[in-house]
Amino acid sequence: MDLKQQAAARALEYVHSGMTLGLGSGSTAACFVDLLGAKLQAGELHDLRCVATSEKTARQARELGIPLTSLAELPELDLAVDGADEVDPSLNLIKGLGRALLREKVIEIHARKVVVIVDESKLVSRLGSTRPLPVELVQFEAQAQIRWLNTLGCRAEMWLEDDGRPVVTDNGNYLALLHFPEGIEDPCALAKELAFRPGIVEHGLFLNMVDTVIAAGAGGVRLLEREK
Ligand code: A5P
Repeated sequence: MDLKQQAAARALEYVHSGMTLGLGSGSTAACFVDLLGAKLQAGELHDLRCVATSEKTARQARELGIPLTSLAELPELDLAVDGADEVDPSLNLIKGLGRALLREKVIEIHARKVVVIVDESKLVSRLGSTRPLPVELVQFEAQAQIRWLNTLGCRAEMWLEDDGRPVVTDNGNYLALLHFPEGIEDPCALAKELAFRPGIVEHGLFLNMVDTVIAAGAGGVRLLEREK
């Protein structure tokens, strides 16, 4: 098993029959969904009801026979399991380089417990120090938003596909990538600033949302718990 699979396998220990689950997006979350599907097919789990955080995850779940529903049917989730792009020592995250940050956040705030699965390369001392922060914005006047984002102490650019067209999310929005040369000094202040800007739909800072991080590395699998 590679590191992502090891973290995913450990997260499966939190899942019990009858639970309601949020299914994350990205390659590590996909390992978890694969293992979940295998357990269901083997009859080792039953009566799960799940909500997917992206069209891609929904397709994967359907192919594996994992029962999907929506938050309209499930006002609360027992557990959400997802990956992350960066995890800081307070278990705050950057997410969204799998392009699904909006649906991830919409769904994960409804979970009683959020477990994040990563390989050790995602653990950082400061958010933004190894990867850019994705920000979802409406298509209307997107370049004006990019201009404003560039005033926030970062280099902001539109996220483009290989053919030069802007990346479009499952929600029909664009994504910007914010590069912070020294990392993000004050993630809470930045999150507030982004939240109040018309046209910015959501950002990839997931602050105070995660209970447990499962980090797999060469030395084994570690459990990091958020202090409450
Ligand atoms: C999806 O939008 C993201 O938040 C992913 O969870 C994150 O990008 C981690 O992806 P990988 O597991 O593929 O590294």
